[in-house]
Amino acid sequence: MHKGFLRPVYGSYGVDSLLNILVTGGLGYIGSQACVALVQAGHGVVVLDDLSNSQRSVREQIEKIAGSEIHLEIGDIRDEECLCRLFNEFNFSVVFHFAGLKSPLESVAVPVDYYDCNVNGTLSLLKQMKRSQVKTLVFSSSASVYGIPAEIPVTEKNSVTNPSHPYGRSKLVVENILADLSSADREWRIACLRYFNPVGAHPSGLLGENPQTIPCNLMPYIVRVASGRLEKLSVFGVDYSTVDGTGVRDYIHVQDLVEGHLAALNYLECNSGFITLNLGTGQGVSVLQLIHEFENVTEIKIPFVTTERRAGDVAECWADASLAENMLGWKATRTLADMCRDAWRWEQQCLQKSS
Ligand code: NAD
Ligand code: WQD
Repeated sequence: MHKGFLRPVYGSYGVDSLLNILVTGGLGYIGSQACVALVQAGHGVVVLDDLSNSQRSVREQIEKIAGSEIHLEIGDIRDEECLCRLFNEFNFSVVFHFAGLKSPLESVAVPVDYYDCNVNGTLSLLKQMKRSQVKTLVFSSSASVYGIPAEIPVTEKNSVTNPSHPYGRSKLVVENILADLSSADREWRIACLRYFNPVGAHPSGLLGENPQTIPCNLMPYIVRVASGRLEKLSVFGVDYSTVDGTGVRDYIHVQDLVEGHLAALNYLECNSGFITLNLGTGQGVSVLQLIHEFENVTEIKIPFVTTERRAGDVAECWADASLAENMLGWKATRTLADMCRDAWRWEQQCLQKSS
């Protein structure tokens, strides 16, 4: 049976929803905030998450902000029986696929785990989608597919033949699978969204990123230094040929990213086929610039030392996000100050909870 993309769903949650959407990894940093936005837009949300990098309590926060219930299924995207049960129970029209492992460093140590979760996980999802004739997918890809970019700002035309680590390669494998699938069956509607450096948190302070170990990423590290959970920041490399010698990235507020997903959903409503889009701000920011902005916004000094470059880091990487603007009518609007303010509010909330 063909399920029309815009078929309304009646009664799943006691209210009428526009669409029923499966959100894999919906308790994670980005997925949880996407769930809020989807519920607020009137959709029914079913989360599938194995809790490998999240907590059950995130569900309550989603529901608190969104003011409505979601359905939560604890399970693995590689569990085909679980997928089959969910697809039979809910009349999904769309899948937002966030679930996956995301640490470049860890992926070097355990590449098989990364390919298994990210590639096999996506394959099991696609097989079930095909069986259930659900052919609309928004996929979380990453700027890491570009490896060392040949051109800055990075357009989608940049070569993606050489990501720097197994994590990036696992995302590229999935992108290629999705492109092949779309070529084979033009009914599929697929958006591959290449995120640059998502930072910040939900403005309520109720949802954000809370790494269980010492953070590897810059913003989570800075906020923990600010709160005193970590002593000082190491700035990895001051001899790059960049504005001030430190690495330059495209930090994007997670709420802008989420809005990009909703814009992609609107686009897919009207267009079949396969699109790959950068989601970034188009602005390069150095490590020192981010530290200074954070200090300005919070009036907290961030002690740091400068160290050797981190292995595998590129000097600079920021997006040309004009394709997303042209195709989706979407543009990141939040400032670096917003990112710092919201990340700091979230850290304070985490500290309060743990004390
Ligand atoms: P996250 O780790 O916070 O969220 C991922 C969620 O997926 C977690 O809740 C985890 O428990 C769940 N999960 C992992 N493996 C699973 C499995 N096999 N079955 C079911 N659930 C599983 O990560 P995030 O930062 O929210 O990232 C979401 C997606 O975006 C990931 O695919 C990631 O690779 C991609 N991405 C993230 C960034 C970033 O910097 N955060 C950048 C680019 C791309
Ligand atoms: C940013 C800058 C560091 C920590 C990673 C993944 C990428 C994507 C986003 C998933 C760099 C410097 C960092 C620190 C520092 N994730 N830094 N001290 O490396 O651009 O991207 O997250 O898809 O795949 O690789 O982000 O936040 O780690 O680093 O000086 O303690 O901050 O050298 O210049 P990165 P990051």
